[in-house]
Amino acid sequence: MQRTEHSTGRRNDRFTTFIPIFLTFLLLVALTAVSFAKAPDPAWGRNGMVSSAHPLATQAGVEVLRDGGNAVDAALAVAYMLNVVEGYSAGIGGGEFWVVRWAKTGEIVCVDGREEAPAAAHRDMYVDSTGNVIEGLSTTGILAGGVPGSVAAREYALDRWGSLSRKRLMRPAIETAEEGFMVNPYQAAYYAYLADKIGQFETSRAVMFKNDTTTWETGDYLVQKDLAETFKRIARDGAEEFYHGQTAREIVRYMEEQGGLITAEDLANYEIKLREPIYGTYRDGYEIYSMPPPSSGGTHVVQILNILEGWDLAQFGRYSSRYYHHLGQAMMAAFADRAEYLGDPEYVEVPREGLVSKSYAEELRMQIPALWSREVPGPGDPWAHQDIPENVPGEGHTTHLSVIDKWGNMVALTATINTGFGAGVILGGTGIWLNNEMDDFSAAPGKPNYFGLIGKEANAIAPDKRPLSSMSPTLVMKDGEPFMAVGASGGPKIITATLQTMVNVIDFGADIQEAISDPRVHHQWRPMALFVDPDISPDCMVELHSMGHRVAPRWVSSGVQGVMIDHETGMMYGGADPRSGGSALGLP
Ligand code: GLY
Repeated sequence: MQRTEHSTGRRNDRFTTFIPIFLTFLLLVALTAVSFAKAPDPAWGRNGMVSSAHPLATQAGVEVLRDGGNAVDAALAVAYMLNVVEGYSAGIGGGEFWVVRWAKTGEIVCVDGREEAPAAAHRDMYVDSTGNVIEGLSTTGILAGGVPGSVAAREYALDRWGSLSRKRLMRPAIETAEEGFMVNPYQAAYYAYLADKIGQFETSRAVMFKNDTTTWETGDYLVQKDLAETFKRIARDGAEEFYHGQTAREIVRYMEEQGGLITAEDLANYEIKLREPIYGTYRDGYEIYSMPPPSSGGTHVVQILNILEGWDLAQFGRYSSRYYHHLGQAMMAAFADRAEYLGDPEYVEVPREGLVSKSYAEELRMQIPALWSREVPGPGDPWAHQDIPENVPGEGHTTHLSVIDKWGNMVALTATINTGFGAGVILGGTGIWLNNEMDDFSAAPGKPNYFGLIGKEANAIAPDKRPLSSMSPTLVMKDGEPFMAVGASGGPKIITATLQTMVNVIDFGADIQEAISDPRVHHQWRPMALFVDPDISPDCMVELHSMGHRVAPRWVSSGVQGVMIDHETGMMYGGADPRSGGSALGLP
C-alpha cells in the first residue's frame, strides 16, 4: 500500500476539516490544470530570461540581471527567494543540483549539493524487527532529514561564477522574510492540506499557524523573522556560518533535544561534489547535458529520448494515442532500469554509459510493439494486478528554476526539501525547514517510497550516502549554441515532465509556454499504470486502453520552468508552469 506522509498525530478536530480542505486543494489544482488548455504567449526579452515557480522569485532574478549580474547571480537570488515564498518546496535545509553553462569557457558543469545520510544512519533504520517499514518515519519528523547541501552548493556557485556580492543577492529574500509576503490561494490551500503534518511540531506551528487551528490564509502576510536572521548571518559569513557557525550550533542543539541523528561532524564534513554531466544527442544538432547519479534524472531523460528518437513523433501527432503509447512504453522501460541500477555512484557501480547508449536504446525500442502495450520482462508481476491509486503517487514538491543571460550563460537548478514542507519540522530557532530526503532511499528492498518508486540494493541506506533523486536540471545546445534550460518539480514526474517539454519543442515545434502547459502522461513502471492528464481526449484514452495500457486519468502535477533562445534572432523566450503558479520574465 502507498505510504502517506501525514498519517500520524492527526487530531480529531482537524480531521473534520481535512476533507473539505483536501477537496479545495484538489479543486485548485484541477482549476489551474484546466486553465492550461489555452497557453498564454511565452515571456520574451533580449537581455536575459528567468523562469521560476513564484513571481517574486522570478522578479528578484530579473532585477539581478538588470543590475549587471549574470545567470548564476540571478539563480542565487531566485533560489534564496524561493526558500522564503515557496518554503514547502526547497530551501537551505535541503539539497540541490546545478547544471551551469559558462559562456567564457564553454564548460558545462554539474554541482551536486544533494543531502547525505548522517554518519549514524543505517540500512534498517526505518524498518521494525519483522522487516516492515515503519509508517511515516522516513517522511515526517526529525529522523527523516539528511545533511543539507544547498548552502554549500550555492557557495561554490558564487565563488566560481558569481559577480555580485552575497549580500546583494540575498537582500530581496531577507527583506521578504522580514516584512512578509502575501499568501496566494494555492499556497493557502497547500498549507491547510499539510496542516496536520506541520502542526505536530511546535517550531513549525509558531511560523505557519495564525491561531491554534488555522494556517495562514489567502491575503495574509507570512513573516519569517528567524529565517531572516539566519539569512543575514549567511549573507555575512557564507557556508562557514551554516556548517560551522551559530546556525550549525542551533541545528545540532535541536537535533540533540529531539533525538535526531545529524551531528556537528556531519555538518562540518559536508562537501559538494562536481560531476561529469550525462551527455546525449537528440535529432538534428541537439546536445543534452543533464544531472548524473546520484540523480536518476539526466540518465533517464537521455535514455527515454534515445528510445523516442527512433520514431517519427511529429508524424505520429502531438496529441495522438500513437505518440502517448510509445512515450509510455519508453518511460516504463527506463523506470524499470531506475529501480535496478541507480544509486549513489560512490557506493554502487551504475552502468551509466550503457544506459544512455544509442545501442541500448535501440535494443529497448525493438521490444516495444507498435500497436499494443507490452510490459518489460522481469519477475512475476503482482503489481500489475494492484488497484490503480486514486492519485499519481505523491503530490510532489521540489522546485526548478531556469535562467539565461545576455552572455549566453545558462543555469538549470533544481532544489528540494523533498515532499511538501520536507520533514514538517522547522529546525529550532533557525526558521529552516528540515528536508525528508531520507525517504528517497529505498527503506526496504521492493517497498515503494512516498512517490511509489521501488528501489533495490543500489539505493539502500548507508552512512554518508546520497539518496537517489529524479531531479533533472537540463541544458540543451543546438548546433553548438545555447538553446534551452529546463527542469521540473514533482518527484519521478520530474523526469517525464522535463522530457515531454523538450519533445514538444523539438519534435512538435511548440513554443516554450505551450510546451510546458500541454497535457502530459507519466509512467514509472510501478505502479503499473499509464497516468494521463484528464484533458487528453477521451478518444485517445480509449485507443490507449485498446492497445493494452492500464490508462489512469489523473492530473500529472509537476512544475516545469524553461527558458530558450532563438540564436538566429537572439530573442529569448520563457515559460512557467501554470500548475505550480510559476512565472517567467525577460529583460527587454
Ligand atoms: N526529492 C525528489 C527527488 O530528488 O527526486
